[in-house]
Amino acid sequence: MQSASLPPTGLHVAIIMDGNGRWARARGWPREWGHRAGARAVRPVVEAAPDLGVGILTLYAFSSDNWQRPRREVDALLGLFRRYLLAETEELARNGVRLQVLGRRDRLPDPLVQAIEGAEGVTAGGDRLLLRLAVDYSSREALTAAARLCDPLHSGREDLAQALGRVTHGGGPAMDVDLLVRTGGEQRLSDFLLWECAYAELHFTPTMWPDFTVEELAAAVREFRTRDRRFGRIASAV
Ligand code: FPP
Repeated sequence: MQSASLPPTGLHVAIIMDGNGRWARARGWPREWGHRAGARAVRPVVEAAPDLGVGILTLYAFSSDNWQRPRREVDALLGLFRRYLLAETEELARNGVRLQVLGRRDRLPDPLVQAIEGAEGVTAGGDRLLLRLAVDYSSREALTAAARLCDPLHSGREDLAQALGRVTHGGGPAMDVDLLVRTGGEQRLSDFLLWECAYAELHFTPTMWPDFTVEELAAAVREFRTRDRRFGRIASAV
């Protein structure tokens, strides 16, 4: 059950955690081991986020296109998410982190859905950081579903943003991303938060996700703060 509390203030940072598979293959290990290492890299980033001025952290954990991966890898990922939720929920709640899971739930295994609902309930009062995990998430699919909820003649941008929040289980309206980070060396959005990233600053790093550190996030945020964000206007008018 979602409470209606406002998201914490601060930057909205979104991360495409790419490179787990290559990180593992480079060591001669199965790809699943890369995901395990990737899961271990999540905690320090979540813990450090509030002190870096991050109020919302959205992590791309599993795209709707990831169902096309081998069954064994998909099962390993879904199992990791559930174990992460079961292991981390109490600590997240103690640290004032509110957890939300974005995306479709009807294709997820029941035990994972139960873990999601449990974690969302236990952490609902968190007001230091809103941690959003995108699981079975597709931005195009979310936009399509949101458009269906809108009135074709009278709905405007705000209505679509509200509908987008609703269809992705986000609660309130879709939230603009300030800084999008993608690890793993690729420079693309991969169907992640397309609406929300309309004016996001982009940061691409060759670092594979399991090697991504708090120091690197801190450097990305510092660099973000030097950017001149004009939102289509000229500098003096912003
Ligand atoms: C992309 O790397 C990563 C994923 C599809 C999964 C992301 C999952 C995690 C970081 C671990 C679990 C997360 C949580 C929140 C517990 P890839 O496999 O596409 O890497 P590649 O591009 O090297 O093949």
